[in-house]
Amino acid sequence: MTLSPEDLNRRLPVEGLGQPLYFFISIGSTNDYAKELAQKGAPHGTLVVADEQTAGRGRAGRSWSTPPGTALAMSLLVRPDSLAPESSAPLTGVGALAVAEAIRDRGGEPQIKWPNDVLIAGRKTAGILVETQWEQKRIESAVIGIGVNVRAGSAPPDEDLDYPATDLETALEAGLSRTDLLVDILEGLTRWLGEVGKASLVSAWERYLFALGQIVKLEGPGESTIGELLGLTPGGHLRLKLPDGEVNTVGPEIRRLRPVDIEDG
Ligand code: BTN
Repeated sequence: MTLSPEDLNRRLPVEGLGQPLYFFISIGSTNDYAKELAQKGAPHGTLVVADEQTAGRGRAGRSWSTPPGTALAMSLLVRPDSLAPESSAPLTGVGALAVAEAIRDRGGEPQIKWPNDVLIAGRKTAGILVETQWEQKRIESAVIGIGVNVRAGSAPPDEDLDYPATDLETALEAGLSRTDLLVDILEGLTRWLGEVGKASLVSAWERYLFALGQIVKLEGPGESTIGELLGLTPGGHLRLKLPDGEVNTVGPEIRRLRPVDIEDG
């Protein structure tokens, strides 16, 4: 089914999120457009949706592909009151949880590969890119960008990717409505935005954490680190137990997280 502004407008807003709606058949990046709107003073809850992105962006300078008719590309502008000023990490958790729960409600068993990948059957099916606008030391506004591979053809072939990917319809063996998915994700975003700064957000995020309790390797910037993934800090950073027993906190500046096959060393 096509994604149309008429269908979306009939269902939005969801608890204050999703209006005004800016819909594009094709755009460079919905995050870029939402950031421009933020600078012009657009309100909390403004949503940018596109059927195709020609210059979609992922984390750590990677590109993100959104071919027409196959995926969900959405960017929500938020102006949070309660966010701890030093970090936007919890907003990545909010986005990842909203997507994970929408997948769970469709019968899937999602996992969140910290900080921003949503996996199903061990393959990436969605990514979150949070971009913040600062005013002195406070987050003035943030854009929560969400890309979901919904149909066959949305995920690039493995050889073009840093991590293997799939699409939801293939993984769930079911046809999905992108409009319903978007509405459910917005419901999840409303719910979890209300939990920012609370232990409930972090414990829900931890329940979906990929490789929890396993030995992982974290790469870049700088040296890589190996340790046991213990969970998250109250601010949504990673807790890692190093081989010498020390527990380190790692922020979202890391570029890659991989479980280490102990057999391989
Ligand atoms: C990642 O996994 O690295 C994050 C991917 C985020 C992609 C979404 S699609 C909607 C929004 N617009 C963008 O240019 N990026 C985000």
